[in-house]
Amino acid sequence: MKRIGMLTSGGDCQALNATMRGVAKGLYNTFEDVEVYGFLEGYKGLIYGNYVKMKPSDFSGILTKGGTILGSSRQPFKLIDEPTPEGLNKVEEMKKNYNKLKLDALVVLGGNGSQKTANRLSQEGLNVIGLPKTIDNDIWGTDMTFGFQSAVDVATQAIDCIHTTACSHNRVFIVEVMGHKVGWITLHAGIASGADIILIPEIPYDIAKVCEALDRRTKQGKGFSILAVAEGAISKEVAALPKKERKAAVAAAAAKYPSVAYEVADKIKEYSGMDIRVTVPGHTQRGGSPDSYDRVISSLFGAEAVELIKNKDFGKLVVMRNNEVTAIPMEESAGKLKYVSPDDSVVKYAKRLGISFGDE
Ligand code: F6P
Repeated sequence: MKRIGMLTSGGDCQALNATMRGVAKGLYNTFEDVEVYGFLEGYKGLIYGNYVKMKPSDFSGILTKGGTILGSSRQPFKLIDEPTPEGLNKVEEMKKNYNKLKLDALVVLGGNGSQKTANRLSQEGLNVIGLPKTIDNDIWGTDMTFGFQSAVDVATQAIDCIHTTACSHNRVFIVEVMGHKVGWITLHAGIASGADIILIPEIPYDIAKVCEALDRRTKQGKGFSILAVAEGAISKEVAALPKKERKAAVAAAAAKYPSVAYEVADKIKEYSGMDIRVTVPGHTQRGGSPDSYDRVISSLFGAEAVELIKNKDFGKLVVMRNNEVTAIPMEESAGKLKYVSPDDSVVKYAKRLGISFGDE
């Protein structure tokens, strides 16, 4: 008899259910006798012992269903050693509930913070397998996370729609794309939708350069322009500040504007007098059905998790490397983010296509 726990943690994405289905199908196909326990609302369920014993039918018909049938919650890693409001030691409670259920393994579908917690549990002696979830594609060690491509599709569609109206009215539009720390979604959706300017956190922008790029388009006879701007885009002046001052400047801007896109719009208006419209697709980028690519990789990731369980090869994070599904030690990835490098070939080729990043 195998007893496997599973949880979905952090911000949701389109392919969480597809991935759980992949794990479950693999488990039921591999082991004669297996019980699957789903912890509710991420690590909260493991801490408080809130779980459901799942049936094979729970995993039927969920391949295309967005969100997560188990629910999710954010559990910031920095709070892991702080007690719960009731004074419970979180790590000890998680170990206790894992042992109470006599689990053979715990499968964690989560992003960076969640994988850090998974690594901690693994170091505490639990048998843990991590599956790389996030729309941001910023987990170190994997070329691809499930959820990313679907989010890129939603953001691309939003920018496509803006394109047609921008063109009709000869307007400049900013579409704000998700990504506070990293710009992968903005970079890919920007290229996919033919954005003229892409601003991401890793390449701080100079507003004069942004306005020059807009001017160039006007001079070429283009009446409209589209900017794809990441939630965490930052100006060169602010990025150059020492950490404390930088944090204060970002907080001051956040108090003044609803979000970064409005700040950029204001700066462009101030600099060039242009009238700008802003669109924020927001959490639509995490919603709806996973696209076909995500359905494929999440199914393969699920199957790899089962292979690791079968081989008792724990403490591993399932990853995609050079188009191959494989696994790496969790500790190699935990605590590191995968940023867009300004020298990334995608950035280089985008620049060659004439896309401005507002930096030169
Ligand atoms: O990590 C996924 C993500 O959607 C980021 O792209 C975004 O910056 C953040 O979560 C939004 O967080 P929340 O769902 O807590 O508003």
